[in-house]
Amino acid sequence: MKISNFSLKGSIILKVVSLLLISSLLASCSHNKVIIAHRGASGVLPEHTLQGVAMAHAWGVDFIEPDVVLSRDSEAIVLHDIYLESTTNVKELFPKRARSDGHYYAIDFLLEEIKKLQVNERINPKTGLKVYPKRFPVKKSSFKVPTLKEYIELVQGLNKSTGQNIGIYPEIKRPSFHKLEGKDITSIVMKILSHYGYENGNDKIFVQCFEPETLKRIRKMKPNIPLVQLIGESSWFKNGVNYKEMQTREGLQKISTYAQGIGPWIGHIYKKSRMGEGFDKTELVKKAHEKGLVVHAYTLRRDQIPPFAQNYKDLLKKVFLNAQVDGAFTDHVLETKNILKEL
Ligand code: G3P
Ligand code: CA
Repeated sequence: MKISNFSLKGSIILKVVSLLLISSLLASCSHNKVIIAHRGASGVLPEHTLQGVAMAHAWGVDFIEPDVVLSRDSEAIVLHDIYLESTTNVKELFPKRARSDGHYYAIDFLLEEIKKLQVNERINPKTGLKVYPKRFPVKKSSFKVPTLKEYIELVQGLNKSTGQNIGIYPEIKRPSFHKLEGKDITSIVMKILSHYGYENGNDKIFVQCFEPETLKRIRKMKPNIPLVQLIGESSWFKNGVNYKEMQTREGLQKISTYAQGIGPWIGHIYKKSRMGEGFDKTELVKKAHEKGLVVHAYTLRRDQIPPFAQNYKDLLKKVFLNAQVDGAFTDHVLETKNILKEL
């Protein structure tokens, strides 16, 4: 059955499942907002490291977010970029392995080679400078690139030993790039998730992706797994997706046939005012809620305040209270939780 021809019955069932999911997720935290540890505890430890996962888990978040790409031997690894140079010492260890565009693609390296790398705080590879200057020092201590399996085993192990039920929020990175490289990242990730018991709406998981065709495919493979359509700017990618259209009522209606929620950029929630100075709240959250979609916005950072907010507290107030998002990805979980208690 084609998603575009989704039956009325199927669509109603999907909406009911969405509403149940929203209420069960909202019931899980006192301030009623879902907090997602963006790339682990990335505000205080290098992103996507097992140490960061343990820290985020100890803070008692709702979900911890792994971004996933593939190695040359098709192992799912937790890495934000399809390249290795911004967060590892790949240039030092494998100086001759860049492609002609200067990038060191993870997909050109075997897992055993990736495991030799040290992970560092994110830098701009051109300047060597930290992207967020006040964060963890570069080239200090020792961090590795985890596999998705190691990552899930750590979360599930901590869930068992602490008695908590903290979820995972994996993002399948660039499926169309992987396809061009001859790899099916979606099947590989979904197989791993199934192996670890993530199969349906009761499991504490959302699977997210910027590419709608991938989510539609997962919807057919796993009818009950909660999905989130990430919304970016079409200029960020060469994937042909019209993200502007996704933000219209018609676009959101289409998303509601295959996903439970949307993950918009905060720049979609507050936009420059057409009338003079300042910023206006958009209708996106309201329109998404009308379609039964949850809204989990990205990314809240204490050290990168967007122009529509005065400081971090003001940012949280604008995004959570004024705009009424249901949850957000944040690099700064602890501050977010503490400030939310005061709001
Ligand atoms: O997945 C939500 C958010 O993480 C998307 O942005 O670039 O940090 O993966 P990015
Ligand atoms: Ca992500």
